[in-house]
Amino acid sequence: MEKLDLYKCSVCGNIVQIIINGGGELICCGKPMEKLEAKTFEESLTEKHVPVITSFENGDCEIRVGEILHPMTQEHYIPFIQTISKDKNNVQLKFLHPGEEPKMYLHKISEKLYAREYCNLHGLWEGNND
Ligand SMILES: [Fe+2]
Repeated sequence: MEKLDLYKCSVCGNIVQIIINGGGELICCGKPMEKLEAKTFEESLTEKHVPVITSFENGDCEIRVGEILHPMTQEHYIPFIQTISKDKNNVQLKFLHPGEEPKMYLHKISEKLYAREYCNLHGLWEGNND
């Protein structure tokens, strides 16, 4: 278990994140929670999930899900995008809702970062700005 790992309860669907790692086991609904492992490349899904990070000359950057914008319907959507600096000291979280565009903007970014997004049907995905 590491700082910023995400865990999900397979019974109720709770998703939690490790802020400080105390080392104990996470239990929800009477069962150990499952660590969400991020996928980094698309398999055969029609929808695209890997976050695409675009940096602009003024230092701002845009994170979009994904190469072709992911659907944002009630049944299938992206509830959040998170960016994490490589040293894990700077974290931003944006919650999204059906009908919104699955995008996030950051201002004046000079550091290397990676972005994660969660799809309610297809799980956790990750991309970086290397
Ligand atoms: Fe999806």
